[in-house]
Amino acid sequence: MTPFTPSAVSRRQWLRSSGLVAGGAIATGSLTPSLAQAMESDVPHVEHGQTTAVGFAAHERMIEAMRRADGPIRLASNENPYGMAPSARKAIEEGWKQHAWYGAPGITTLKKVYAQSVGVPEDHIMIVAGSSELLSIVNLAYGMKGEVLTPWPTYEGLPRYAESLGIKVHKVPLTPDFSHDLQTMDKRLTQAVDLVFVCNPNNPTANLTENRALRSFVSNASRRAMVLVDEAYHDFVSDPSYSSCIDMVKAGENVIISRTGSKIHGLAALRTAFVIARPDIIARLQPLSTSAPGAFGALGAVASIQDTAYQAMCKQRNIEGRDIMKAAITKLGRKMTESQTNFVFFHTGMPVEQVQKAMLAKGFMIGRAFPPYNDWARISIGTPDEMRAVAAALPDVIGGAPKSLGGSGA
Ligand SMILES: Cc1ncc(COP(=O)(O)O)c(C=O)c1O
Repeated sequence: MTPFTPSAVSRRQWLRSSGLVAGGAIATGSLTPSLAQAMESDVPHVEHGQTTAVGFAAHERMIEAMRRADGPIRLASNENPYGMAPSARKAIEEGWKQHAWYGAPGITTLKKVYAQSVGVPEDHIMIVAGSSELLSIVNLAYGMKGEVLTPWPTYEGLPRYAESLGIKVHKVPLTPDFSHDLQTMDKRLTQAVDLVFVCNPNNPTANLTENRALRSFVSNASRRAMVLVDEAYHDFVSDPSYSSCIDMVKAGENVIISRTGSKIHGLAALRTAFVIARPDIIARLQPLSTSAPGAFGALGAVASIQDTAYQAMCKQRNIEGRDIMKAAITKLGRKMTESQTNFVFFHTGMPVEQVQKAMLAKGFMIGRAFPPYNDWARISIGTPDEMRAVAAALPDVIGGAPKSLGGSGA
């Protein structure tokens, strides 16, 4: 158990008051007092810009009570269940007078702080209104004259926008072990392709593609086209063999790295994300940007980037949640990918719509279908207590023998 683990009492209270383990719907009537109690906590949450262990435990109690009261529990969009750091909330509350402002001057500070945190000069950074904005405009900057190459399935933002612009998109199916099929991607990287998308770890499959092979592909491909590496889940990776492709940007290659404030920083509602690339690439992308995060996004992100304690505690909690799900799915005899993200992807043996419906009846909102893996489910990692409740609910829903393991990429 980690030092910031909330008391066993709070866990028992949670399980009792939610009624989730008993398989019932959320018992909202019993929640209001615990939410009120949790919100009243007056422990110091932040010291010297870092969320304290005690502060995190209090924050966790409040978050769990809030999520329960909001029910069903959101496990569908890979958000950070803990939301923004107490330090980010404090910065926004203290800067509330900026509510009428556009992003400046906070965006300038954010650029500086982010550049420092990843070890590149400031002119290598661009701030966007969520990485979805980058995934759109990069097509305008680099995809319009040719074709786009992407693994499939993957995060849909870039290929979907390319198709809406009439750009031809080559979608290369994943290998049977759910890796990017780099050999086939290499073959499909003809002269007509001028933009390549790579997502590592990949969404929806949660896994990494083998590091050396991926890096070698990215580096080679960047000599023939612009390569965008989406590292939205970078901060959740615990596999020591993984490394970011950011060093390729530092080496001056045709590589754009996409990172987001929506995951480990819990700022999805504030639409704040980071682009790391050579200055001439940034100069080409910047005029195409149609918006930027507002002042609150900048304030929250600056505080959160500096609050390394909060990031570490969220990462640790995510690992605990992942392990709970791994044990539960393995016990059910189902196949799953090796998650290095804040979600898991596993075989259910039935159409995922059916699983979604049954889980919703038990109080959990889970991910949609990702064709061709129509009998696989994606569940985002919530708090460890929430994942214990999910693990207890799953056997009822998918407990029978697997119906098929073939035909859907298994
Ligand atoms: C791989 C990947 N990239 C980008 C995004 C979009 O993130 P943002 O909130 O920064 O637009 C997501 C969201 O789930 C994602 O999974």
